[in-house]
Parts: sequence; structure tokens; C-alpha cells
Amino acid sequence: MPNLHTMSAKKPIRIGVLASGGGSNLQAIIVNCAAGKINAQVVVVISSIADAYALERAKKAGIPAFFVNRKDFPDKSAFNRAIAGILREHHVDLVALAGYLRMLGPEILEPYRNRIMNIHPALLPSFGGKGFHGPAVHEAVIESGEKVSGCTVHFVDETYDTGPIILQKMVPVLDDDTPETLAARVLEQEHIAYPEAIGLFAEGRLKIVGRRVVISS
Ligand code: GRF
Repeated sequence: MPNLHTMSAKKPIRIGVLASGGGSNLQAIIVNCAAGKINAQVVVVISSIADAYALERAKKAGIPAFFVNRKDFPDKSAFNRAIAGILREHHVDLVALAGYLRMLGPEILEPYRNRIMNIHPALLPSFGGKGFHGPAVHEAVIESGEKVSGCTVHFVDETYDTGPIILQKMVPVLDDDTPETLAARVLEQEHIAYPEAIGLFAEGRLKIVGRRVVISS
């Protein structure tokens, strides 16, 4: 007798997370997967920084965690091939960049075309591109006099922060904001936006049409 539950339930998608820092977005993704809110599981975490706290978070959650040291490889291509190899070995369906500070090479971009997401702590296409990461983003937003900021989840292409936008969440910029207070307000929204975008991907509801990501109901 076939088991109706396993027949109807779709297999969770397998996520590989690349993170260079604290990993609070990684944590939000892990928590949402574990709670069954999104049909996905984080199967591997890779960091380019040896002591990234993201690696600790992965280990605590029982997820295989790898530090890949650029210095162990003769060139960028070999470094990117090593990362692509780990993703392949773990049968990753979706790559999620969560505070990953290195540019991806074609060795990763090509096999995972339209299957790589990133989160950025501003409303792209403003305040993105090379150099716009960490406090620099929020400093620039405050200096520009913007009344709103937020976060953007987007697919990744060959250049920093330019791929098709999946979803955005807004927050106000307050008159007395510092880069730290604004970052904290944005980060809260990141922890909602990233799992939401991954959930939509897992449900097969994202379609890229030109530069637009159409979300089907
Ligand atoms: C986040 O602000 C994200 O938008 C940016 O890097 C930061 C990573 O934070 N890409 P965390 O490591 O997930 O806490």
C-alpha cells in the first residue's frame, strides 16, 4: 500500500549556504527550515573565513561546515572549483549567499545559474556594488538623506548586487539613526525576507522574466 504522505509531500530542497561572518541570516534560514515553515534544509555551510561564527552555528545545528582557504589554492579559479565541488558533493539545489564577501567565479555561477541568491542590506539598485557592504551601506543611506531603507533578496549574476530582484522589505530611516541602529532595523527584516524568498523558490513560484522575478500565486 503506497504511503500517501510521502507520495504527496515534495522533497525539501537542499540549500548550501556561503557565509563569511556572523551568520544571523544562516540562523534564520535554519530555524525556518526546522520549523517546517519552508520546504528546505541547509545541507552544507561553507566559509572563506576560518573563524566565521557562521561555521559554529552550522556545527551546533549538526550541519557539515567547511572553511575553504583562498590561500590554499594557486588561483581564484581553483578556489571556486573547490567550493563548487563541495556544493556538488552535497547535492545542493540552491546556493544562498549570506554575508559572503567574495565574488563568485564562473565555476560556481554556471552550474548554479538562477539558483544562487544573495541578501543585501539596502534597497537595490541603490547602495549596491563593490565596496557597499557592512556599515558602509548604512552610512551612505543616512548621508544621502533617504527616508527609507531596507533589504533586497536577489538572484546572483556576474557582478555585485545586480541580479534580478526577488523581494524587498522596507524600514524607515530615522533622524537620529546611526549606521548601527539602522543596520539592526534592516537585519530584523532580512531574517524575514530571506526565508520567505527561499520558501517561494522551494515552492517553484519564482520565474525570471527579463530582469523581473515574477512570483506566481
Ligand atoms: C547582512 O547584513 C547581509 O545583508 C549582508 O551581510 C550581512 C550578513 O549578516 N550581505 P549575517 O552574517 O547573516 O549576520
